[in-house]
Parts: sequence; structure tokens; C-alpha cells
Amino acid sequence: MRYNVVKDANKIINNSNYLIKNPQDNKGKWSILFGNNNPICLELGMGRGSFIIEMAKKHPNVNYIGLELDKSQTATAINNIKNQKINNLKMICADAKDIVNFFGKEIDTIYLTFSEPWPKKQDEKKRFTNESYLKLYDRIFKKNKHIILKTDNKILFASALESLSAYWYVFDKVSLDLHNDERNIENVLTDFEKQYFKEHRKIYYFEASFKG
Ligand SMILES: C[S@@+](CC[C@H](N)C(=O)[O-])C[C@H]1O[C@@H](n2cnc3c(N)ncnc32)[C@H](O)[C@@H]1O
Repeated sequence: MRYNVVKDANKIINNSNYLIKNPQDNKGKWSILFGNNNPICLELGMGRGSFIIEMAKKHPNVNYIGLELDKSQTATAINNIKNQKINNLKMICADAKDIVNFFGKEIDTIYLTFSEPWPKKQDEKKRFTNESYLKLYDRIFKKNKHIILKTDNKILFASALESLSAYWYVFDKVSLDLHNDERNIENVLTDFEKQYFKEHRKIYYFEASFKG
């Protein structure tokens, strides 16, 4: 899938109430921003935002934050909200490696949806499931840790299983073909996934937790 370049991305981002411009100012205070104590779920690399927008609409009693590095993708996600008023949704345009500056111990679930696979050995550290990232997640999860991952990439999936196991996560659900899984696993499609669905590509999935 090609990434679109949005010419007036900065303007769209700056004018949006969904976009939190200085996320570091909300560290430890996201519940106040949302105005409730509902669980907070974070998607890293939300892309065009379909997944997080649909999840927020589907689960009004859960708060959702979509984080994305690329301004054009973020602007597209904001445009995709259209004129809907979704009180339990916020977005951040920033690098995932900086999450500890934005959050205290206040996140319930992290979604890793079709993250960059970084297949080369020398790039392993950049994977969102690398131990260096798991250590960052430790600092923003509430008491229990909960990661949900979807990918079409076998290398990323295998390395994620390995790295989370070594970090003492337990796998509550694993699927090697999410779209044809007979169990009733809730699945809201991401933008990339919509394309893969049409191509009948196999989607790997897991839900992992660590009870603190
Ligand atoms: C393959 S796309 C998947 C997008 C979306 N999750 C989906 O499934 O449609 C990966 C996204 O992660 C974003 N990304 C990559 N590295 C990132 C980082 N370090 N911090 C935040 N976002 C990042 C990219 O800009 C891109 O939009």
C-alpha cells in the first residue's frame, strides 16, 4: 500500500481537537483529559486511523489513543474522522520511541497493527516487539500488561512470539489465520488489513498479557 502525501498536513493537524499537540503535558493525566477513569488503549503506528476510529465508536466505554509518526498519515486519520464527535478518541503525531515522555503508568492495552517488520537483522531493535520497546511499555502499562498484535509478516510474528515469551508474557490467544479463525476473535480491520483481506493474505494474531 502506498503512503499518501497530504499537502496541508500541518494545518489539518494544528486545527484538530483530536490531535494532542503537547502530549508530554498530559503525562499521568490522560484520564482527566478524557474526563473518566475508563481503560486507555494505545495503538502505535495507527496509519490512516481506521482501526482506532472504529474501535472508539464500537467501545464508547474505553478510551483510545492513536499514535503515528508521519504527519500525512496523521492528517489523513483526522480527515477520516470527518464530522463525527468521538469523545473517547485522541491522536498523537510523534515517534513511538518517545512514549515514556507522554504516559505515566496509565495504559491498559497496546495495539501493534501491521507495524513495520524491519526484517533485516541489523534493524531488529526498531521492531515494536523488541525487548527495548517492551521495557518502554513496562513504564506506561498500569498494573497488568496487555499487547495485541496483528501482522501479515512471518518474520515479525515469529520474532514477536520469541521476544514476548522471553519477557514472560503469556499468550492468551494466537491465530495463524485470523480471517479464517473459527473462534470468535473480535477483529476491526485496519487500513492495511482491508487490502490484505481482499488479497486473501494470511494474518497472524496474538493477544499477550502479563499479570503484575
Ligand atoms: C505498515 S503501516 C500500518 C498502519 C496501520 N496500523 C494499518 O494497519 O493500516 C505502519 C505505520 O507505522 C508508522 N510508524 C513507523 N514507525 C513509527 C514510529 N517509530 N512511531 C510511530 N509510528 C511509526 C508508519 O508511519 C506507518 O504509518
